[in-house]
Amino acid sequence: MPVKYLITGGAGFIGSCFALASARQERQLLTLDKLTYSGNLLNLRSLEQNPLHRFVRGDIGDAALVRRLLEEFQPEALINFAAESHVDRSILDPEAFVRANVLGLCSLLAATLDWWKTLPEKQAAAFRFLHISTDEVFGALRHDTPAFTEKTPYAPNSPYSASKAAGDHFVRAYYETYGLPALISNCSNNYGPRQFPEKLIPLVFARARAGETLPVYGQGENIRDWLHVEDHCAALELILTRGQPGQTYNIGGRAERRNIDVVRDICAILDELAPRPDGPHAGLIRFVQDRAGHDFRYAIDSSKLERELGWQRRFTFEQGLRETILWYLDNPDWLQATQSGEYRRWMERRYGGEDPA
Ligand code: NAD
Ligand code: TYD
Repeated sequence: MPVKYLITGGAGFIGSCFALASARQERQLLTLDKLTYSGNLLNLRSLEQNPLHRFVRGDIGDAALVRRLLEEFQPEALINFAAESHVDRSILDPEAFVRANVLGLCSLLAATLDWWKTLPEKQAAAFRFLHISTDEVFGALRHDTPAFTEKTPYAPNSPYSASKAAGDHFVRAYYETYGLPALISNCSNNYGPRQFPEKLIPLVFARARAGETLPVYGQGENIRDWLHVEDHCAALELILTRGQPGQTYNIGGRAERRNIDVVRDICAILDELAPRPDGPHAGLIRFVQDRAGHDFRYAIDSSKLERELGWQRRFTFEQGLRETILWYLDNPDWLQATQSGEYRRWMERRYGGEDPA
């Protein structure tokens, strides 16, 4: 019998990468996703004909649906990627983030606990609830402060990170109070194929290809620690199979870069692979008004994950960024669909209701 994973938020950027990697390992998969603006069934297209995968459109906050799916599917693990995920959107509409990342998650936890309590002892002990979180819950670092460890106190600064922090606390509470075998991972900025083009790297790619200006907040001095999404997903599989319930694990790329350097790197790769007739892509860079409350620096110390679970990243940032740009160049239809909204119409036509035809 294949191992069964229920993946929530599995039509998004990281969740779909995890689903594709799990399918390669012949896991049996049930993907639950609300298909918000960033959820995209094109991300799961290669699983359409796979008899080991089933997709259900729905909200993690729909306790009756979640409870029914758990009962029917009897997963060995639930991996929760579902969230509102973009800081800039959280600044404009904080309450949407509370609804998805706090209330939705609390409902998911309650439904899972309700089902988990009915399991025979052995199955209950083997079950895992893995919650995917972010390094942004730890707040901002200065140049000279050490990287975040699992012991760094939470100090979220944006509505997004505040909602993720609140969610993490509830996951912890479900382990401490009810014994639900839950784990949390806190990861740094991801990049790679299928990232919605509102985030820095695909946004810069898309705008550069369209000959549009490339907006860099402030002076571009802010620092992020970049990790390839496949390295993130490999870490999650290790945490699921070898991690200890009740523990948290930091995942990072040891690849701190200033934003302006990331943008210039993308421009240089594009100059080589897809030159513009009007001159170098870097000529499109514009420094624009800074983000409110913009965290200066994130950096993750992932030595616990490396030491205890034997994880190592596979991609250097240079190699990973190049492969990522190549993927976007090779998949213009994907990018166009996310931008035009056509993927939604495609999805409705293809899948309509709850399950694929
Ligand atoms: P994403 O926005 O690409 O995907 C989120 C997915 O969740 C979408 O498919 C969306 O439709 C779905 N979703 C949203 N609300 C839902 C709900 N109420 N019920 C069911 N599905 C819902 O985001 P992502 O970048 O793939 O991030 C996934 C997770 O990883 C998030 O929890 C995020 O906080 C975390 N994370 C992201 C990064 C990053 O750099 N992108 C880094 C660390 C952690
Ligand atoms: P983003 O991809 O939104 O991730 P996060 O805010 O979760 O780190 O942004 C990465 C960095 O790039 C962040 O410091 C903000 C900056 N940024 C820009 O300079 N311009 C942009 O248009 C965007 C979207 C982000």
